[in-house]
Amino acid sequence: MSKFPKDFLWGGAIAANQCEGAYNEDGKGLSVEDVAPHGWKGLPTSEPTSDNMKLVGIDFYHRYKEDIKLFAEMGFKVFRLSIAWSRIFPQGDEQEPNEKGLEFYDKVFDECHKYGMEPLVTLSHYETPLHLSKTYDGWRNRKMIEFFEHYARTVFTRYKGKVKYWLTFNEINSITHAPFLSGGIYTPKEKLSKQDLYQAIHHELVASARAVKACHELLPDAQIGCMILGMPVYPLTPAPADVLASLQTERENFFFSDIQVRGAYPAYAKRFFKENDIHLEITRQDQQDLLETVDFISFSYYMSTCESSDPSLETGEGNILGGVPNPYLKASEWGWQIDPEGLRYYLNILYDRYQKPVFIVENGFGAVDELIELKDGTKTVNDDYRIDYLNDHLVQVAEALEDGVEIMGYTSWGCIDLVSFTTAELKKRYGFVYVDRNDDGTGTLNRYKKKSFNWYKEVIATNGQNL
Ligand code: BG6
Repeated sequence: MSKFPKDFLWGGAIAANQCEGAYNEDGKGLSVEDVAPHGWKGLPTSEPTSDNMKLVGIDFYHRYKEDIKLFAEMGFKVFRLSIAWSRIFPQGDEQEPNEKGLEFYDKVFDECHKYGMEPLVTLSHYETPLHLSKTYDGWRNRKMIEFFEHYARTVFTRYKGKVKYWLTFNEINSITHAPFLSGGIYTPKEKLSKQDLYQAIHHELVASARAVKACHELLPDAQIGCMILGMPVYPLTPAPADVLASLQTERENFFFSDIQVRGAYPAYAKRFFKENDIHLEITRQDQQDLLETVDFISFSYYMSTCESSDPSLETGEGNILGGVPNPYLKASEWGWQIDPEGLRYYLNILYDRYQKPVFIVENGFGAVDELIELKDGTKTVNDDYRIDYLNDHLVQVAEALEDGVEIMGYTSWGCIDLVSFTTAELKKRYGFVYVDRNDDGTGTLNRYKKKSFNWYKEVIATNGQNL
């Protein structure tokens, strides 16, 4: 008997800016990613430059049919993707949407439904229109709430009947570390005060709640969730000071979902604001808006981290939240520490905290792959390391299901190779499908099935019984 419910939503995930390419086709405006050739740590360029891998991505814009067919062959029940906001509103502050942009996603969603696959759509995945960033300083400006709500209402209305699972902001808690790519804030990070940052966060949270409200109004049969960068924070030692330090760091992340799920600022925020001299402008209407809460909680999970009360300890590599390395865990080539049990732990923590359904919408292993040619001439990648990573994590998902956690589904990240977010390179691959494109821009863009392709197909076909 499978431990996974029979309607478990198996699938994969991508984001527009990391895949589509066609950065200026059919009326699309520039997004913050189009001027970020060096990932989240690099400085934005004044205009798109040819070393920016995302301008071409993996050419999903022109090859989506071929790619969706491959996902269908693996048996995907759900396909997570984002809408590039600047395809729909090239500048972000217009009234009239770009029809060509809307048509593109019509075609993509129709293609998914052809195979019985439900799209799971992120409204904003690190893709703020550049104009909004440069002119309004992104989420620092209250006007962004109106622009975002207008965009959300436009796509909800257009795709009624085609999309029933939505997410508002991808990894909303990443804004504290990546204010430009995550929050569209053009002011350099070092010039932002905590006051600036938390006011921007407030605007984004209100916008998220307004989108939730619009979704509930316009699409009563749909469900809409929040999306957080999930990372368990363990105390480095049992010293009470370390335990408290980890609680503190964990709260910096739960701050976002606490508001999105519970509809109000958590009690601990008061002290944090006081000690950091933060005085937010929160209107009565904002408070009212925040009361509209999400239907489910989604998150990405790649690694866990540790926290210590000793500020002299070096933080390790890892995704943008960082942290002190855990001496008990191994890491990927990019320094992301591998912790399958952390996923079970985190699923339980989330469910204990909120008692709402959870959805794992990103999990995967970024690695350098070697494309090899078999005797019969077909090309593939023997990515046993990826199979091991995913298998070990899914075993823990099954454990969490047995623990009683209500899990809607699992979409593995980068189900087809794509340009990485943190480092903007293609060398770091996640896919079941290899894309022949290299960081120097060479490659045919041809697609090849990796060994993990058949493994995942089997996982889905057996509803996880082969794990
Ligand atoms: C998450 C993002 O942070 O992690 C994705 O939502 C991103 O956009 C993924 O691609 C993996 O990070 P990276 O840097 O390896 O691509």
